[in-house]
Amino acid sequence: MAKQEDVFKTIIAHAKEYGFVFQSSEIYDGLSAVYDYGQNGVELKNNIKRYWWEAMTMLHDNIVGIDSAIFMHPTIWKASGHVDAFNDPLIDNKDSKKRYRADVLIEDEIAKFEEKINKEVAKAAKRFGESFDEAMFRQTNPRVLEHQRKRDELHNRFSEAMNANDLTELKQIILDYEIADPISGTRNWTEVRQFNLMFKTEMGSTADGAMDVYLRPETAQGIFVNYLNVQKTGRMRLPFGIAQIGKAFRNEIVARQFIFRMREFEQMEMQFFVRPGEELKWFDFWRQTRLKWHKNLGLGDSKYRFHDHEKLAHYANAATDIEFEIPFGFKEVEGIHSRTNFDLSQHEKFSGKKIQYFDPELNESYVPYVIETSIGVDRMFLSVLCSCYEDQDLGNGDRRAVLHFPAPIAPVKCAVLPLVKKDGLPEKAREIQHRLRFDFTCQYDEKDSIGKRYRRQDAIGTPYCITVDHQTLEDGTVTLRERDSMDQRRLSVDELEKILSEEVSLNSLLRKLL
Ligand code: GAP
Repeated sequence: MAKQEDVFKTIIAHAKEYGFVFQSSEIYDGLSAVYDYGQNGVELKNNIKRYWWEAMTMLHDNIVGIDSAIFMHPTIWKASGHVDAFNDPLIDNKDSKKRYRADVLIEDEIAKFEEKINKEVAKAAKRFGESFDEAMFRQTNPRVLEHQRKRDELHNRFSEAMNANDLTELKQIILDYEIADPISGTRNWTEVRQFNLMFKTEMGSTADGAMDVYLRPETAQGIFVNYLNVQKTGRMRLPFGIAQIGKAFRNEIVARQFIFRMREFEQMEMQFFVRPGEELKWFDFWRQTRLKWHKNLGLGDSKYRFHDHEKLAHYANAATDIEFEIPFGFKEVEGIHSRTNFDLSQHEKFSGKKIQYFDPELNESYVPYVIETSIGVDRMFLSVLCSCYEDQDLGNGDRRAVLHFPAPIAPVKCAVLPLVKKDGLPEKAREIQHRLRFDFTCQYDEKDSIGKRYRRQDAIGTPYCITVDHQTLEDGTVTLRERDSMDQRRLSVDELEKILSEEVSLNSLLRKLL
């Protein structure tokens, strides 16, 4: 079986080869943790965004969308706490001159204990075969217990240091556990310092007195500061939500794992405003609703899990992550937080404007509470890509790379292929493509053998190929080939639109949510 690391490398290479994701500024040797989406990537990304946007704004009467600016008044980031507390602890190695996140170095050390435990378990499972009782082995094997004890000891010390924001202790842990720089191999570390993740730039000319502004590190604040505008102009009554999709920027110190952690990325966030005291009911509602949205794509229910936060940010009273299994483990794709009235109250305080809701049923005014759902478009893209990729063995030494995308979000829905490049078949195929392209992203391809063309479409995840042959000219029928089963059936050109719209429309996916 291929190692997960190799699987991931293959997927990254495939994403580049087939026009999904490119390293930004590649001809200048690239820009770290910044990526561009290619011709197929942008279609997949847009479809993911449409699935989210329409599920939010069309399936909920009480959710509307906005598109706020990336630049905002700098005081917003003071009010939200980002200027003072949106930090990562960083440490430099004096020999390699490389910069690391101190918490990530320690987390990697914790993961090493976990790997040792997993190796013991895998070895024993091989030795004992079917009679192996994994739970019993984990509870009783002395080597496993020793690794577990050491792991827990380190984990507890680390958690305490992080909770207390104790940078000296973080450095001490790195020294005590003899954590070395993976590049220089030395333990010649600087002190641990806090590093603010926001990108700063200047607005206006210096003659006018330029103002420091930030590239937003989340889209959420654009929603909070527009709460009153939307509530009043939309005559919204609680509970109601505001959704937004847009770019966010973070100067991540450790940028790795492809598009999982980027410096410029995209978020889909929704703030749901509720009556105080009702927030935990709504938190539970959104926890379930969001999981259903994910599972509805059919990528495999066992790939999802919740990770409820034990330690909550000071303003939150409940928080969970939806994690998805990708080749390097279960990772956060979406966060759902009950943020109390923290953000709106802060903006009330810093702006001096009253941000309240008059509740006609209670006959009183209050600052609404908020449930936030926040998902990264790029992480969602990565989850879809990883779970849909297959290097499939077709037998007799034949293989194909295929992306089993759910049809409604596939970048290309169908390809029209003339069997040969003569006898009027290209003209007929073009005619069919021109008819379909009003409703579906539809490609035309006449180059190479039909087998090679099928493989090319499999590799970009096109659910249907329509082959035009000599019989088409006689009776108006074509062959429809389905990507996953590779089954082919003959049908009339006139049936194509109906069949395709049933199978590939976003509507079909959205309907399953209700
Ligand atoms: N408004 C809340 C918020 O921004 P977050 O957990 O920091 O919360 C929400 O981010 C989501 O944004 C994450 O679950 C993740 O999917 C995505 N995200 C965060 N940082 C990212 C990064 N550097 N690269 C790609 N996606 C990121």
